[in-house]
Amino acid sequence: MSRIVRVELGERSYEIRIGAGRSFERIFPENGCRVLLVADSNVDPLHGERCCEELEACGVSVERVVVPAGEPSKSLDQVAVLYDAAANARLDRGSFIVALGGGMVGDLAGYAAATYMRGIRFVQVPTTLLAMVDSSVGGKTGINRPQGKNLVGAFYQPAAVVADLDSLLTLEQREYVSGLAEVVKYGVIWDASFFAHIESQAAALLGREPAVLEAVVARCCEIKAEVVAMDERESGVRAILNFGHTFGHALENTAGYGRFLHGEAVAAGMAFAAKLSVRAKGFPEEQLRRVVELLRRFGLPTGAADAEDWPAIRQAMASDKKVRDGTLRFVLAQGLGSVVFGCPVEEGSLEATFRAQ
Ligand code: GLY
Repeated sequence: MSRIVRVELGERSYEIRIGAGRSFERIFPENGCRVLLVADSNVDPLHGERCCEELEACGVSVERVVVPAGEPSKSLDQVAVLYDAAANARLDRGSFIVALGGGMVGDLAGYAAATYMRGIRFVQVPTTLLAMVDSSVGGKTGINRPQGKNLVGAFYQPAAVVADLDSLLTLEQREYVSGLAEVVKYGVIWDASFFAHIESQAAALLGREPAVLEAVVARCCEIKAEVVAMDERESGVRAILNFGHTFGHALENTAGYGRFLHGEAVAAGMAFAAKLSVRAKGFPEEQLRRVVELLRRFGLPTGAADAEDWPAIRQAMASDKKVRDGTLRFVLAQGLGSVVFGCPVEEGSLEATFRAQ
C-alpha cells in the first residue's frame, strides 16, 4: 500500500490504507476467522469476487451477501437480511463484517456490525470517492426511517479502512465528480493551502490521475482523522464536517429521490453556506468566488433550485437532525480553512441568500 493514515482514538484507533490495490494484511487473526462480505448489486459484480479472494488469501472463511443497490437499502429490512446472513454463516464475537462499496453499504453493514451480538468488528472497503474521503472514516453507521435520513444508528469505529484507488476507475463520471464536492469541503473547512492545491490539480483530479488522487484522498483522510480524534461523537468541532450539509440535505429531500447525488447537493449547499458566510461572517467575496469557481470547474451545481422551491427547502432545513432548541444553526466560513459551527442566522439572510443565487 502506498499511504497509511491513522485515526487516533485510543484502543479504537485504526489505519486507513490508501493505494492502488488492497492489502488486508494484519487485520484478521492469524489463525483465521469468519467474515461476512457485504456488497450491493452494482459493486458485487465489479469487485466482489476479487475482494473475496483477497480475503481468503488472508486465511479467513468468507460468506458473501448482496443487497440491492440504492439508498432504500439503508433500511431495517436489509439490516435483518444481514443479521440472518451473519447468523446462518455462524459469525461469532471473533468474526468480522466487511463492507465493500459506497456510503450506503458502509452505513448499513457498519450498523449491522455494531449491533450483531452487541458488536463485532468490521472493515470498511470503500469503492467510491465519497466513501473514501468521508463516510468510511469516523465511525458513523446507520439506517434511514421514513421520518428521517440516518435516524437510527451508532458511532462504531471500523477495525480498518482499506481504500483501493483502482476501484475509482470503475465509477461513472457523475458519481466520481460528486465525491469531489467533499474533497473541496476539506479545503474550505480546514486547510487553505490544500484548497489551493485542489485548484491547481483540478484537471488531474477530473482525469483521475493516480498520484494526484492518492495524495488528495490521503490529505482528506488526515483532516477527517484529526477532526474525529478531537470529537468522535460530534458534541463539538466534528460539526464542521457538515459544512454545506444543512442546505444540501434539504435540497436532496425536496428535489425528489435521485435528482441530486449527495455530493451534488452538498456542492450547492456549500455555495449557499459560503454566500451566507459573506453576509454573516465577513467571508471575503474573492474567496467565495474561488469556491464557486472550483465547484463549477468540476461540473458541480452551485445554485440549485427554483425560487418557488424556497418554502419547501426552508421547511426541510427545519427538520434537520442538527436543529437544537428550534434554532437552525450553520457552519460558516470566516476565511478559507477557517470555519465556525453552531452559528444562528437571521431568517431574512437565509431567504435573501437563497433568492440571490
Ligand atoms: N460525514 C460527517 C461526519 O462523519 O461527521
